[in-house]
Amino acid sequence: MIDGKRQVIWSAEFHPFRLPSPDLWRDVLQKLKASGFNTVALYFDWGYHSPKQDVYDFTGIRDMDRVLTMAQEEGLYVITRAGPYVNAELSRGGFPGWLVNQRGRARTDDPAYMAAADEWLTRIDAIIARHQINNGGSVILHQIENELALTTPAQRRYMNHLYAKARADGLTIPLFHNDQGRNGYWVPESSKVANVVHGPNDLYAFDGYPGGTCTVQGKPTRGSAAPDWGYYGPGGAKGGASASPDTPAFLAEFGGGWFDYWGSNGGYECNAIQRGKRFQRVFYGTNLANGIDIHSVYMGYGGTSWGWLPAPVVFTSYDYGSAISEARELRPKAEEMKQLGGLIATVPDLAGMVPAGAAVASSPNVQVYHDRNPESDARFLMVTHKPSNGTTDDRFTITADLPDGRYTFPATEPMRLNGFDAKWLVAGVNVGGQRLVYSTSELQAALAADGGDLMLLYGRAGESGETVLRYTSAPQVRVLDGQATSLFDAAKGDLRLTYPHAGRAVVRIEGGGRTPLTLVLADEAEGARYWRQGPALVRGPALLRSAVAKGGTLALTGDTREETPLELWTPAALRSVTWNGASVALKPTAIGSRVATRPLAGPAPVTLPALTWRSAYGSPEAQPGFDDSRWQVAEGKPYASITARPDGQPNLSMDAYGFHDGDVWYRGRFTGTPDAKQLALFYGAGGSGMLQVWVDGQFVGQNELPAGLPRPITTGGARFDLPAGAQASGEHVISVMVRNNGHNWDLDSDDFHKEARGLISASLEAPGGRSFAIPIAWKIQGKAGGEDLPDPARGPANTGGQYGERMGWHLPGFDDAKWQAAATTVQPGTTWYRSRFTLAMPKGQDATVAVAFGDTASPRSVAKYRASIFVNGWNMGQFIAHVGPQRVFPIPEGILNHRGPNSIALAVISDGAPGDVLEPVKLVTLRNVRGGVSVSPVAAPTRPDQLIQEK
Ligand code: GAL
Repeated sequence: MIDGKRQVIWSAEFHPFRLPSPDLWRDVLQKLKASGFNTVALYFDWGYHSPKQDVYDFTGIRDMDRVLTMAQEEGLYVITRAGPYVNAELSRGGFPGWLVNQRGRARTDDPAYMAAADEWLTRIDAIIARHQINNGGSVILHQIENELALTTPAQRRYMNHLYAKARADGLTIPLFHNDQGRNGYWVPESSKVANVVHGPNDLYAFDGYPGGTCTVQGKPTRGSAAPDWGYYGPGGAKGGASASPDTPAFLAEFGGGWFDYWGSNGGYECNAIQRGKRFQRVFYGTNLANGIDIHSVYMGYGGTSWGWLPAPVVFTSYDYGSAISEARELRPKAEEMKQLGGLIATVPDLAGMVPAGAAVASSPNVQVYHDRNPESDARFLMVTHKPSNGTTDDRFTITADLPDGRYTFPATEPMRLNGFDAKWLVAGVNVGGQRLVYSTSELQAALAADGGDLMLLYGRAGESGETVLRYTSAPQVRVLDGQATSLFDAAKGDLRLTYPHAGRAVVRIEGGGRTPLTLVLADEAEGARYWRQGPALVRGPALLRSAVAKGGTLALTGDTREETPLELWTPAALRSVTWNGASVALKPTAIGSRVATRPLAGPAPVTLPALTWRSAYGSPEAQPGFDDSRWQVAEGKPYASITARPDGQPNLSMDAYGFHDGDVWYRGRFTGTPDAKQLALFYGAGGSGMLQVWVDGQFVGQNELPAGLPRPITTGGARFDLPAGAQASGEHVISVMVRNNGHNWDLDSDDFHKEARGLISASLEAPGGRSFAIPIAWKIQGKAGGEDLPDPARGPANTGGQYGERMGWHLPGFDDAKWQAAATTVQPGTTWYRSRFTLAMPKGQDATVAVAFGDTASPRSVAKYRASIFVNGWNMGQFIAHVGPQRVFPIPEGILNHRGPNSIALAVISDGAPGDVLEPVKLVTLRNVRGGVSVSPVAAPTRPDQLIQEK
């Protein structure tokens, strides 16, 4: 209950750190709201804010106060999920880089770990506390740990600590933990259920991702029926798993898509379908019917794991197949969400429902979940196949005792359930001044205006619909548009309307003892054209962001994809209407709406420049004479990694030296002997990571970790033959570049995030693996400054230790005048390419531009190379040509300057073999609308001399 009123918390997840352009947070929040969500769930990424122990940043793209303010301004409740551990397919599951150097076990009551967590919590909790609902904000619930599946006493003490810490920091809202499935972990002490693990939490929440997957060929499967995780499941109680029957049933995450892996065939479009339209209706509907009234879809908008944010399990795009695509387009499944969320908003009685008596379908292939509101007796009838992943085409009637009597309906033509689908029906509800006895159409929206009501109902195209309304005497029925017939049963007072779902019909009903009613009866596609916001129901635009009445004017904002007619219903007192600030001339229609006399304009086409490149070689570290005098000596640091290494090896792990993200270089010196013929290396590099090796300036080869679907292989070994010259006596130099594609998450709370990165061991060997006690004196260099960031605005995940990164070659203002026209042949190592271009997007338009590599129709290239993509200095992705599947990298406006100069720098790693060379790179437009929100460029240093110099 919020302020004494029951409410379904209908939420979707969004990660502000996966959209490094704060003005666009509002775009996503508005799209979630317009798609029917009343709540947004936010993870926060500790590591995103903390490059070094005791150093925190909450400015610019890290301004979490700002995202909370925006969510409230957009009318959304917020569920905050602040870790310390979040998982979320983030490098280290959201832990900061420096934490991997702690020896104490993370996610326990180890004092050093808890002190570290408290640093973060003190800061993030202070921000959240200001935005709590009881402090005038909109944050309603707060999560204190994520999927902590170890439930030992040390973990219980840790959980107690987290709870107490949140309370001490002023968080007074209900606190919960998110259980990985219905395991009954960390349920409130109040639960008297056996076989659960208690925690200090106020609510029990769990997550789940049921319902099949996409095949390797990218085809959706419907592996299982929707689970009954509440009333209709084993035990029959609310509270998921019956673990906590006295607290509201709470799905802190329910799969609204899935992530995708290095080396896949590109699953996001499939995921969008697999957990898309119909899935939402069947699965989310089953959840709601089961009494799960706090329901959060993971993800609502997935976004981009830019820079070195991704965990080894994912590549750059975190599109997730969610309702809002990475490019910020509303997918077709968002339209369905809008219709489902519309029902929840229209019928507040859906909150707090309990099972009602049986509602029986006349077909054995169909089941009806039947719930009622204990106070008003309003009904929810969730009609789906039995089992719910059934795909047959069935015709049937339903018999049930409803609040207004016993009915077998429809009375005329039977209902139809054709294929994988469900229907969310309501019965016995009051909507405005009307009494809806039942309807076989689904209710999307209602509007009360000028003493009358409007209801928007919809159904599958071609199916017939039946709606029964209750009156005290025969009302007058006029069909204003389309087809419908009506019959009044004077004995019951029932007015029965029968109509096909085809385009739209409009029926006006007056008299009969009720306020006048306009019924808009639409097919599904027609229904999807309507937006219910503020005091208006609007038909037409691709998006309605807001509808705000001020004085006699209704100000509408939104997007059009093409020239679009506008129609609306709104109180007559709102005489004038504006669309994105411009006034709209309107005329009345015969059906009681008003239409714009001229259509809303669509977007002008966008033209993008071709890219031309200059290049420079970027692996001078490979040369024996390279000056590494300022590099750190790699020895003597304490070893905190969980990775075993052979005795006698120095600590080579990059993290020990303050290098946590991106690439790292090693240079090792040894004295040659005729017996040392090979170099054996063991290394850690995350998902599809790699290393490259030179001896005395000569490239001896590279090694790449296999993609290893669906769980990556994150460490590996490689053996290289030494060049003959390296066996001569005297000093020789080994140069090694390790590409670190992220630290593991800590999903199983076993310190897996502390698996070593960079070199783990190195030995000189005779053929056959006999190793020598020939010492190698190593030096190491990663990101300039290590934990002391040269560029705090872009932050810890932006750069690693490539030479060009250390020199600022990725920055837009770097002077590349001395660089050559782009090379077509390539050397082993890293070659940098830079391009400058100007964009002149039409004003008042929102487009998403992406950087695309080679043949975008295929998930992989024959050419073997990889590229880090810097747009105006921001590392917006990692492309691996021969691994894939991502070849198109959306760049958010704000990072990309849509109206002015831009630069792209690519750091391309190749083995130097002919053909392993950068393919054609171009800019592409992924979407283009008229509208959008206004976006300022994200402030950050533009020239190398603006970087903070290493001490
Ligand atoms: C959940 C976890 C999330 C995320 C998700 C998969 O189990 O809580 O953080 O990892 O799985 O995307």
